[in-house]
Amino acid sequence: MSALHPLVTPRSTPQPVRSLQRWTHNLWSLRIDRPDGFRFQPGHYTKLGLPAGDEHAVWRPYSIVSAPDDPLLEFLIVLIPGGAFSERLADIGPGQNVMLESAVFGFFLEPQLAAGDTLWMLATGTGLGPYVSLLRTPGALDRYRRVVLVHSVRLAAELAYRDELESYVAASGGRLRYLPVVTREPGASPISGRLPQLIADGTLQQQADATLDPASSRVMVCGNPGFTTDMRSLLNGRGFQPCRRGMSGTMLFEKYW
Ligand SMILES: Cc1cc2nc3c(=O)[nH]c(=O)nc-3n(C[C@H](O)[C@H](O)[C@H](O)COP(=O)(O)OP(=O)(O)OC[C@H]3O[C@@H](n4cnc5c(N)ncnc54)[C@H](O)[C@@H]3O)c2cc1C
Ligand SMILES: NC(=O)c1ccc[n+]([C@@H]2O[C@H](COP(=O)([O-])OP(=O)(O)OC[C@H]3O[C@@H](n4cnc5c(N)ncnc54)[C@H](OP(=O)(O)O)[C@@H]3O)[C@@H](O)[C@H]2O)c1
Repeated sequence: MSALHPLVTPRSTPQPVRSLQRWTHNLWSLRIDRPDGFRFQPGHYTKLGLPAGDEHAVWRPYSIVSAPDDPLLEFLIVLIPGGAFSERLADIGPGQNVMLESAVFGFFLEPQLAAGDTLWMLATGTGLGPYVSLLRTPGALDRYRRVVLVHSVRLAAELAYRDELESYVAASGGRLRYLPVVTREPGASPISGRLPQLIADGTLQQQADATLDPASSRVMVCGNPGFTTDMRSLLNGRGFQPCRRGMSGTMLFEKYW
């Protein structure tokens, strides 16, 4: 990705940071004002920018975590050691500005999926964000009888939004299952291991008490590109179909780098 772009583009505005929520020293949520006319659907991403020299800025895409009617826009951000953007963003606090691209992008949109019985929402790391946006949006998942959210992180402290997600589970009357998976802290979660393997050996289906088959399941996959590649191959092998322009499918992917 080309790193440098003009600081102010015709489609960008400076927005003050309203609040930060720190999950760990390298993972936080950032809230900025949602400008008038900024519209999106859960699953869209936009771009955030920061100055880099007098006339340029570094821009990076970020998925939107908030619901479309929230007056604030929220993002879940991981610090990449040495990263050109996230290291700068880590120094920005309430009252300081970030640049916001006024357009939204992407096709990781749940309505692209054909009707189904069970929605599987699979995330690694910050790939959780689009699902939080979906869960915060009233009615967005009403067409499913069951929803299974699986979030894989290295350490338990990185299970961002855990309390909020558990509150949705408690209110769902058994419709929503939330399966946290911690991979580098033995004993920190009932399930451990990489998600494609946990699906291949049936662990996740057993824990969720749900099947994963193209006749009744729909699958969203978001995060680490090694993960999305392995999931695509696994789901292809089971007969899932990608969503194509103008044609609904049974699986959807968003990769973050
Ligand atoms: C569609 C889309 C949506 C995205 N949404 C988010 C988001 O909601 N939150 C977020 O933190 N990032 C998100 N990203 C990644 C983000 O745009 C930046 O790449 C990231 O913040 C790092 O920027 P950087 O300049 O510091 O490092 P970069 O030079 O951009 O990245 C350096 C390396 O860090 C690793 N990396 C980058 N992003 C991540 C990540 N999210 N998790 C784990 N490792 C990563 C990769 O190995 C990458 O090669 C998204 C990317 C895309 C394409
Ligand atoms: N999280 C930390 O403690 C930490 C500390 C210092 C620096 N960083 C840096 O922060 C960045 C982001 O780290 P992150 O932990 O948010 O993201 P990540 O490396 O993508 O890991 C998030 C989750 O995805 C899993 N995963 C990774 N590759 C996978 C694949 N091919 N298939 C299935 N699952 C996969 C990981 O499991 P595995 O554990 O099996 O990989 C982990 O559970 C990295 O660049 C890293 O260098 C992170």
